[in-house]
Amino acid sequence: MNAIDPVLAKIDTNRHAALDRLFELLRIPSISTDPAFAADCRKAAEWLVSELKSLGFEASLRATPGHPMVVAHRRKPGARRVLFYGHYDVQPVDPLSLWATPPFEPHLKNGANGQQIMGRGAADDKGQVMTFIEAARGFIETHGDLPLDVTIFLEGEEESGSPSLNAFLQAAKDELKADLVLVCDTGMWDAGTPAITGSLRGLVGEEVIITCADRDLHSGGFGGPAQNPIRALAKVLAKLHDDAGKVTLPGFYDGVDEISADLKASWDKLPFDVAEFLGDVGLKTPAGEKGRTVLEMLWARPTCEMNGIVGGYTGDGFKTVLPAKASAKVSFRLVGRQNPQKIRDSFRTFVRDNLPADCQVEFRDHGASPGIVLPSGGAAFQNARAALSTEWGNEAFIIGGGGSIPVVGAFKEVLGMDSLLIGFGLDDDRIHSPNEKYELASFQRGARSWARVMAALAG
Ligand code: BES
Ligand code: ZN
Repeated sequence: MNAIDPVLAKIDTNRHAALDRLFELLRIPSISTDPAFAADCRKAAEWLVSELKSLGFEASLRATPGHPMVVAHRRKPGARRVLFYGHYDVQPVDPLSLWATPPFEPHLKNGANGQQIMGRGAADDKGQVMTFIEAARGFIETHGDLPLDVTIFLEGEEESGSPSLNAFLQAAKDELKADLVLVCDTGMWDAGTPAITGSLRGLVGEEVIITCADRDLHSGGFGGPAQNPIRALAKVLAKLHDDAGKVTLPGFYDGVDEISADLKASWDKLPFDVAEFLGDVGLKTPAGEKGRTVLEMLWARPTCEMNGIVGGYTGDGFKTVLPAKASAKVSFRLVGRQNPQKIRDSFRTFVRDNLPADCQVEFRDHGASPGIVLPSGGAAFQNARAALSTEWGNEAFIIGGGGSIPVVGAFKEVLGMDSLLIGFGLDDDRIHSPNEKYELASFQRGARSWARVMAALAG
């Protein structure tokens, strides 16, 4: 019997060294979407391999056409097999001017809930990955062993649509097969209340590029007769929503079910304050579909969002140009049985059908994953929930996830494995934004939580 109390005590004594280790990882600018940082992505992967080797894992880097994967095993014949997943890549930092301190110079700062770890990737997802690794260290340094057969699988392309993932999973099927996947890339309900995420939205990423004239034109010399691609683009994008906030693409809501009365009732009971949620980011009025609660909008409804739009002269001052080209990045969050490929096709047809003469259009595919609902009835789920509740002294909530983690669907599809989504992020962590942070308490109690969850899963 591997007692848990000495493991928790070990994690507590290790906490300063653990923070130093996380800072080392946070100093590596592993921005996966930008090819200029490919060497840094590799460096982060190598850092993790050496860290895991030092803990007695059989760890290695696996090449892919993109950034490498990290795979590490600590086998324990006869024990329950878990696969832990996280990602070592991070989002770009721009706009850099909005960072109070440089994004890759991690440090502690005082905040409302205690100290905060500042830096890109602190919450998404390096800090979260390290909670699990520090929990494993706690066990290994205390008992010489883990209570489970553990494989750690870390991806370096999660933030850029996971282009190498499916082929890798296919090829590494047997090696990665486990009884259960543990994913640490989601959040808590609030700073005192842990959570297990029961669903994730899917994502379709599309880029649309419209070209009109074969060069930029003087808007006095050609304005009027010449088609303007920004105007054409703005018009088609504006047509994607109706006045009630619904997406107008034909077939968009196929496969979107109403949530059950039970689930709706349990969400309605959550102590969620819309004014506070929006107020925290400087907003007041929900902008989504009319007649839906905010939690429904986030967890149970699909969306269409414009993530970027460019064209013409965007520098300082003014230029009376009629540009040749305009483009936008558009993404769709999916739920239920919405089919990503059908939605992509419907979007492309819609754009083509709604463009005026003299517009050439080109599309780029930026990945697709369906929405997913995870089982919450089994003993593993209930035991993990109890372990989390014990650590935080508050009953863990079951929440929905508005974001997407494409690998979770792939684990189910390719390997037939269910995932348990436990994470310690907070809504105000500013993931993907300037001044990203992770609560020090999330990091430290996150590690303790994983130790308890591992023990609970071992039975
Ligand atoms: N950690 C997030 C996903 C997340 C965020 C889950 C909030 C639950 C709540 C993850 O790293 C992420 O940002 N994923 C991307 C995926 C996309 C690039 C394919 C996302 O959701 O935009
Ligand atoms: Zn993440």
